[in-house]
Amino acid sequence: MELEREKINHTLFQNKFAEELLSIYGSPLYVYDGVILRQTIEHITKAISYPHTQFHFASVTNGNVALLQIFRDAGWGLHANTPGDIYLGLEAGFHPSQIVYSGSNLNHAEMEQILDWGVTTLNLDSIAQLQLCCEILAEKDQPNFLRLGLRLNLPEITGDSRIGVHPEEFHAALNITQKAGLKLSGLHFYRGTGTNATTAFTKVIDTVIATAQQLPDWEYLDFGGGFGYPYHHRGIAFDWEEFGRELTAKINQLERKIDLIIEPGRAAIAGCGTLLARVISGKWQGNKQIVGVDTTVANLSVPSVHGGYREIITCQQNPQISYSQTHITDICGNTTYSRDYLGKNCQLPALEIGDIIAILDVGAYGYAMSSHFLHRPKPAEVLVEDYEHRLIRMRED
Ligand SMILES: Cc1ncc(COP(=O)(O)O)c(C=O)c1O
Repeated sequence: MELEREKINHTLFQNKFAEELLSIYGSPLYVYDGVILRQTIEHITKAISYPHTQFHFASVTNGNVALLQIFRDAGWGLHANTPGDIYLGLEAGFHPSQIVYSGSNLNHAEMEQILDWGVTTLNLDSIAQLQLCCEILAEKDQPNFLRLGLRLNLPEITGDSRIGVHPEEFHAALNITQKAGLKLSGLHFYRGTGTNATTAFTKVIDTVIATAQQLPDWEYLDFGGGFGYPYHHRGIAFDWEEFGRELTAKINQLERKIDLIIEPGRAAIAGCGTLLARVISGKWQGNKQIVGVDTTVANLSVPSVHGGYREIITCQQNPQISYSQTHITDICGNTTYSRDYLGKNCQLPALEIGDIIAILDVGAYGYAMSSHFLHRPKPAEVLVEDYEHRLIRMRED
């Protein structure tokens, strides 16, 4: 996508504005750029021209209610992985019919809860979950409009995954729904998270469609989730236009008109989020700069715990700065936990106490995966649109 690199020059990274935000809301601070988020939503939406397409934001990546409302206002629905995702979606004002659930391993009370909330599209992960759902529905007045689907497990295309139902089990699933007087009308394909190779999706479309056609009452296809984001700047990005073109062409060839659900997570939200933090101390180990900042891996676990890369820049940094003016730098959190690195071997100018760093592209799996490990409170979250800013989640104390 062209838009995400513009952010290097974005107002957020001008030191004065970053200073203003940290002086008002404190440091560290999650900052979301509403303009970038809206641009990304538009970019993804326009890429798929198939008319019966509904986008659902996968809120596993970021459950901030104010951000969910931006998706809702843009006409997207919500994709829920858990009852908690649904709860937040309802808080954000989504109608239950705008929520698609595709999770795993709900107990009786949880399954009953999501049905009572009125969620009408459920992609179930196992025969046992389908059975449980049908049993609960048998005890209730069935909702007028309920779409039951299966999550697909087909190792050739879904890899070695614990998720889903193999096509060999479809007949057992159909027996259960028929006995309950229900239809099995959907197939959900999810190929795992964070793939930037567009062909990884386009080359499996035929197989997914052929598999879905084994369901006699097939009405909708939910095609994930899992679309990547180019965290390595100037790296390969997922090509939404190519994906949209190929998927639309193949679905248009079908005799029956199906509904298409797309549930992007990180692809939609990663690029709009930045974690600002202040430099607390600095030292040198030979040629390497060791910078201590006032945040920790518990506030942003992905780079350190899960091995992901997030670009770090300084807010004072002059974009024209030459490579020779930078130094190999480790950015370390404010604990002595051995993995408390926010970034390793970054190229940064010499930093001083009080300087501000910006960890980019943390909108997905950032705050959502933060924890109280290390007993540091979670940062505040702020939404910025041009120079307007507002608190969207309070800092913990
Ligand atoms: C079913 C499902 N859909 C979508 C997502 C979001 O994935 P991504 O951020 O890779 O798009 C997830 C993530 O766990 C998921 O389990």
